[in-house]
Amino acid sequence: MKKSDRIYLSPPHMTGRELDYIKNAFDDNWVAPAGPDLVAFERDFLEYIGTAFGVALVSGTAALHLALIAVGAKAGDEVLCPTFTFCATATPIVHAGASPVFVDCEEKSWNIDPELLAKELKNLADKNKLPKAVIVAHIYGQSADMDPIIESCNRYEIPIIEDAAEALGATYKGTMCGNMGVCAAFSFNGNKTITTSGGGMLVSNNEEIVEKARHLSTQAKDNVPHYQHSSIGYNYRLSNILAAIGRAQVTVIDERISQTREVNRIYRELLGDISGIDFMPEPPNTRSTNWLTCITIDPKKFGANKEEIRLCLEDENIESRPLWMPMHMQPVFSKCRKVGGTVSEELFKNGLSLPSGSDMTGEDIKRVSEIITSNIDRR
Ligand SMILES: Cc1ncc(COP(=O)(O)O)c(C=O)c1O
Repeated sequence: MKKSDRIYLSPPHMTGRELDYIKNAFDDNWVAPAGPDLVAFERDFLEYIGTAFGVALVSGTAALHLALIAVGAKAGDEVLCPTFTFCATATPIVHAGASPVFVDCEEKSWNIDPELLAKELKNLADKNKLPKAVIVAHIYGQSADMDPIIESCNRYEIPIIEDAAEALGATYKGTMCGNMGVCAAFSFNGNKTITTSGGGMLVSNNEEIVEKARHLSTQAKDNVPHYQHSSIGYNYRLSNILAAIGRAQVTVIDERISQTREVNRIYRELLGDISGIDFMPEPPNTRSTNWLTCITIDPKKFGANKEEIRLCLEDENIESRPLWMPMHMQPVFSKCRKVGGTVSEELFKNGLSLPSGSDMTGEDIKRVSEIITSNIDRR
């Protein structure tokens, strides 16, 4: 992605040290899906998150797929997950052969609604049809309300897999996302808080889960000198070169979070008092990273709708995006079960993610805000 005048939603933000790590890896000929940078990147990332074990993979999607296999999800099982999320929270459930059931989000955090989840788990327990797992995503940098979710899942001994792809460094009551389920997936896609251009990691305090995932990620090769396989594996390991990029990136996680939080603060200062504009909430006892700054627009109060604003920004070469289209509205999931749905439908109808790059300048944010406010009462 060439640097240009376009203001992107969340572009990669390099430290300037990535090429040094890559050069070292080339000098030592570690151009392989194994090597010292992979080991060091896993070590440094785990130190930041605070979990004991982890395996670096080609993507967050791969991490979720292996997490589901590790907890035993298979054909005939159901897995509960939020409807208001990116598709990659749900598609790995299908990759594992199981069926997703979509649960609506709550207004308070925009993440999975703990009350709806509790009701659905009780309903399924009564029918003796409990799901194999619950995936909880922490979207747009904001943690889900974990205490009641953990309480319900513990009652029925259902494992929680955290999809922390968008919430690196976010906290809930002082605990970092990625430490609250049996395991968690992170993403290092180009648009995330830190990036390896593409990549992900599965982390857990349960060594067995991570070792199973590591084994499956490298073609499930048995521990013998020849190529022998007793189960079906995948080619999901991150390359050493991409891990080298990650080694530089992992050093700036807190800096990136301060920067995206500052972007959010400036947007709030400039747009917070405008009638018809509301920001994604940050509930007490949580700390969002504001990976993306998201707003909802009430067209009656504001005078223009989210699509009119999006197009107006696009005319000025500025990227913004509608909030997630709920999974239960997706054509590909039309036959899946859903629990509730109106909260996410409303967010999709009226919500927009604003450009939120950690390298955005105050001037850029002011420009975006002025274009948005120029739409007031345009009808
Ligand atoms: C909520 C969520 N889950 C999972 C993923 C998948 O991560 P990746 O793109 O690394 O496969 C992403 C991002 O892309 C995401 O936003």
